Amino acid sequence: MRFEPAGGGLRGTLRVPGDKSISHRAALLGAMSSGPVRVRGYLHAADTESTLAAVQALGARVARGAAPGELTIHGVGLRGPRSLDRPIDVGNAGTLMRLLPGWLAGQPGRAWTLDGDDSIRRRPVDRVAEPLRLMGARIEAREGRLPPFAVHGAALHGIEYELPVASAQVKSCVLLAGLLAEGETAVVEPAPSRDHTERMLACAGVPVEQVGERVTIPAAPVEELALDAIDVPGDLSSAAFHVAAALLVPGSRVTLEDVNVNWTRTGFLRIAERMGAVIEGELEPAGSLAAREPVSALEVAHGALRGTTVEPGEVPLAIDELPLVALLGCFAEGETVVRGAGELRVKESDRIATVVEGLRGLGADIEATADGFVVRGGGGLRGGRIASRGDHRLAMLGAVAGLASREGVEVEGMDAAAVSYPGFADDLARLLAR
Ligand code: S3P
Repeated sequence: MRFEPAGGGLRGTLRVPGDKSISHRAALLGAMSSGPVRVRGYLHAADTESTLAAVQALGARVARGAAPGELTIHGVGLRGPRSLDRPIDVGNAGTLMRLLPGWLAGQPGRAWTLDGDDSIRRRPVDRVAEPLRLMGARIEAREGRLPPFAVHGAALHGIEYELPVASAQVKSCVLLAGLLAEGETAVVEPAPSRDHTERMLACAGVPVEQVGERVTIPAAPVEELALDAIDVPGDLSSAAFHVAAALLVPGSRVTLEDVNVNWTRTGFLRIAERMGAVIEGELEPAGSLAAREPVSALEVAHGALRGTTVEPGEVPLAIDELPLVALLGCFAEGETVVRGAGELRVKESDRIATVVEGLRGLGADIEATADGFVVRGGGGLRGGRIASRGDHRLAMLGAVAGLASREGVEVEGMDAAAVSYPGFADDLARLLAR
């Protein structure tokens, strides 16, 4: 699909689809609940459909409502996932692959196998296997660390686990297992990461305690989750593509409604502001421990940018938007550096390699480092071709690059965007239409 330079800029108001991370958690925690859970704003995209299919295979009933994004999940309870004689297919969804084992590991005497697409088979699961083994479960993975892998449930005991790298997926997996474990479970992170699981558990009546980067489930095992309704706000990670497009294309002014502005997700907006962007919206203050997910409209207009350095401690709060930081860097005065982001190498693609090669092919002056990249900006982008390599965020990056480029960009494999944002190209076109 081709994206031409967006002459007159992007204009208008948009509501991006529901948050992917929160949707995965809504489906999983809904399935773990005993009573029905009503969900509004659920993301209907390939990844989150994989999660609905997985929880249905495990025995949950999912009734779709009249409006898109409306669901009622009739769960099987914390101890009720049924045994299966075939692998659970997680598709392309890393979050499903890393959270679900936490629940399954706490089911004594039962076992499940998880598998997914070619991209998921390259993504490590040892990061969740290790803490689950320490809690008493048995995990058998291909080559010790890759899918497909088997989770053999057991009577778990609580642990205190220090994460080697900040990861919301690993933290969430350990917390879910902690619900079923005997005694206290604590997770300590080197830096804060997204906290949607903690917030949703608190809404479900679980006494989750948080002090700094230490999260504890003190009173386990937990009998049941008391969730009744979940409102899924718009996905900041999806909105970020429109934010970047508006910042880069002269003449743009865009409003994005109902975006989740949980402070553990808004790192990209803070980085962009440091680069000179003016973004209006009521962002949640850093450090907030509120249980509810905050939402705000975001209003963004085109403006000049300058380079910045993204430090390791900021990385988890902007992890999925770092490709967009690279893109902004191409148009910013001076150098933009991202450090401490080695985790990008194990995303849907090796996002250090694919972003650097992709943008360089469009004329960027960008270099990869072991744990990030360096962009010398100011020259903008000529344009050309970029391949998504099956990575949804790379496909959408290419589209935005095209609008901001001098000659336009052909994105090969634009359909990959459907993993998180099936209507992306249409929404972008709507902002371009006059
Ligand atoms: C996610 C956590 C992040 C992020 C991913 C979604 C989540 O991964 O990159 O897209 O929903 O918990 P890590 O926990 O591996 O950093």
